[in-house]
Amino acid sequence: ARKFFVGGNFKMNGTIESVKGIVKNLNAAQLDPNVEVVIAPPSLYLLLVREHLNSKIEVAAQNVFDKPNGAFTGEISVSQLKDSKINWTILGHSERRTILRETDGVVASKTKFALDGGIGVIWCCGESLEDREAGKTLDVITKQLEALRSSLAGPEAWKNVVVAYEPIWAIGTGKVATNQQAQEVHEAIRKWLKENVSETVAEETRILYGGSVSAKNCKDLAKEKDIDGFLVGGASLKPEFVDIINSKQ
Ligand code: 13P
Repeated sequence: ARKFFVGGNFKMNGTIESVKGIVKNLNAAQLDPNVEVVIAPPSLYLLLVREHLNSKIEVAAQNVFDKPNGAFTGEISVSQLKDSKINWTILGHSERRTILRETDGVVASKTKFALDGGIGVIWCCGESLEDREAGKTLDVITKQLEALRSSLAGPEAWKNVVVAYEPIWAIGTGKVATNQQAQEVHEAIRKWLKENVSETVAEETRILYGGSVSAKNCKDLAKEKDIDGFLVGGASLKPEFVDIINSKQ
């Protein structure tokens, strides 16, 4: 069975004080031991979080560069993450794809680099409202998956990939996808994996839902058969993040 996975994406939020507060809360909370928890603070606070957070919770970067090291002002390398005991990174978040103009190819290249360097990847995909209304949701996601697959060596490489489906229209809007909307896309992603990668990869890959997940809606979403966890934005900064971690019945 797939282990339920809950990620917290702090995005560009927080201060030393507030981040320390979140860590303190998580350290003190009763978390379901059957859930894998990973939090992604801004890069400036990665070391602080890793130092104070208990070792059962992993820490992720929100981005990483696809070169080993050198003259790349402003970037962080995979080896620097490893050196800092940061074992995960988010890649392909829609905010990076749209605001920072990362193409499918750039995201795929970074993903390959991270996996080759031994870092797990929370790889995000999702359609815009315009895509959805035009009936292009699955086309967009398939294209994103295709770019990812073509850069990975083979089925083995998927072991350290967690897929996050985040419809752009649901991110930060309070407009969560319905259970049915989410399940439909998750099922389609799993089917795509089965047909284009392997049956084992389809069976084993965790597919997370992201977009306005809250303590209120998480329990119902967690019941869907292809929803294996969440990638949480705004609510990961609040005490209700613990309820989301513990949402799987
Ligand atoms: P919200 O939970 O704030 O909608 O953000 C979702 C997200 O983008 C997580 O990566």
